[in-house]
Amino acid sequence: MASYDEIYSYMEKRVDALKTNKTGDERQTEGEVFDKRTLMVLYEFMTDGIIDTIHYPVSTGKEGNVFYAEDSDGDPVAVKIFRTSTSTFKRLAKYIEGDPRFKGMTGNRTKMIYAWTQKEYKNLYRYMNADLPVPAPIAYEKNCLIEEFIGDKTGPAPQIKDVELEDPTETYEEIISFIVDGWREARLVHGDLSEYNILMSDEGPVVIDCGQAMDIGFPGAAELLERDIANVNRFFRLRGAKIIEPEKIMKKALNKKIKKERT
Ligand SMILES: Nc1ncnc2c1ncn2[C@@H]1O[C@H](COP(=O)(O)OP(=O)(O)O)[C@@H](O)[C@H]1O
Ligand SMILES: [Mg+2]
Repeated sequence: MASYDEIYSYMEKRVDALKTNKTGDERQTEGEVFDKRTLMVLYEFMTDGIIDTIHYPVSTGKEGNVFYAEDSDGDPVAVKIFRTSTSTFKRLAKYIEGDPRFKGMTGNRTKMIYAWTQKEYKNLYRYMNADLPVPAPIAYEKNCLIEEFIGDKTGPAPQIKDVELEDPTETYEEIISFIVDGWREARLVHGDLSEYNILMSDEGPVVIDCGQAMDIGFPGAAELLERDIANVNRFFRLRGAKIIEPEKIMKKALNKKIKKERT
């Protein structure tokens, strides 16, 4: 087993944020980008060959950061790292109450963030298995999630809010299919669907940020469905797309579910 110092100097070569050749106090401050535990998880991913290097952050949010990284072939991967801070805990708490997957851990902040990371991984997996456009999940451990990078070596695909859409109605219909098939096939409701969580890749829109997605069996799932539809309709109406009535979309999602249960 390598010592922490050995691990740190190994990591310094592979993580851009640590490449400062600093020592002592300075190093400690720099190292705060990743706490010790997170650094150990990333080290494991590297020694397991899942990632090779971590480059620049594509996003620094309140709950965590997303990094552009590369695997051993030099191909892009996304590394999403959740902060285990109180504020993250507070924001996520409202999604976690009433979810049986989090039973018995609401008092343990760290455990809950780990469970959240696992939940995002599993949700991505369910969407992917239903052939819906999300980043393919690759691995997770503790507060770190590795997934397919949407974009290329030059950078991440833009959020849909920053894109001038060629055919807004076509893109709108793709997102409505994501909502409807997400409910019917993946049996999930995203719950935070907006122009911020849709990236526009070369192959079309890709839905990200699936940590809060809920199984359609949860109380409140229909309410989340309604909210997702309202958000998507609002955005695409402004873009000039031909909008479908929310009731129609709801019906399409819910009807199929009843049919499925009968067969
Ligand atoms: N798989 C990915 N590929 C490329 N960029 C990503 C990926 N996941 C996230 N991002 C970028 O990071 C930002 C934040 O990610 P997101 O999952 O929405 O986390 P949060 O909104 O909770 O901070 C996104 O808006 C996007 O720009
Ligand atoms: Mg987001």
